Amino acid sequence: MRKPFIAGNWKMNTNSATAVALAAGVVNELQDVDTVDVAVCPPYVYLQSVAAALSASNVALGAQDVYFEDNGAFTGEISCQMLKDCCCTYVILGHSERRHVLGETDELINKKLKAAIAGGLMPIFCVGELLEERDAGKTMDVVEGQIRKGLDGLCDERIQAITIAYEPVWAIGTGRTATPEQAQEVHAMIRQLIATICDKSVADAMRIQYGGSAKPSNTAELMAQPDVDGLLVGGASLKAEDFSKMIKTVA
Ligand code: 13P
Repeated sequence: MRKPFIAGNWKMNTNSATAVALAAGVVNELQDVDTVDVAVCPPYVYLQSVAAALSASNVALGAQDVYFEDNGAFTGEISCQMLKDCCCTYVILGHSERRHVLGETDELINKKLKAAIAGGLMPIFCVGELLEERDAGKTMDVVEGQIRKGLDGLCDERIQAITIAYEPVWAIGTGRTATPEQAQEVHAMIRQLIATICDKSVADAMRIQYGGSAKPSNTAELMAQPDVDGLLVGGASLKAEDFSKMIKTVA
């Protein structure tokens, strides 16, 4: 049985006061929930204050990106050890905004995945197609390519640290959620692909989240799909009540 995993990606939102208040609100709402793994991923600059707000709770901390080098002259970048030092358990990698707004390549994401695992972080590895790719019938090819390149060289026990997040780009921040059937179709393909490139036991154990306009009203139907093991939540994770409602629906 795969334990559901719901993570909030706060993206470039909140400030020093609202980040702590949001984290405290989530902790307060979820005191009795232990059947779902929960994480919040604030901006880098609020990691430490959010970590303090989460301490002694069942809500874990994640970052939204990491660089693959350990230290040195990489202005503006943050290393895995720095994230560990700030109490991070998870790190989001390959998010569509980093791929399409900031130009990250599959090769860079692969290096980051390897560094994150070596550094003791648990990556949430995002994949997903653009609207024109879906309309052209290329969804499966695009997602397969992203997974094969992203996981290149990682098909051993290290891969078990990874959660995959399927986030169709056309569903992110648009209010246009993938239907449960569309999500299930891609999730099943991803699990089959992991079985092919690694093995079936790894595929069976791997958690695959859906992301893209997930909210309280569509949580139950998405999570009812057999290969949807969790959610990566953007906008709805910025309200403690909505995010907690989603987790309680799953719990
Ligand atoms: P929204 O939930 O705002 O569509 O964002 C999804 C996402 O990108 C999470 O990483």
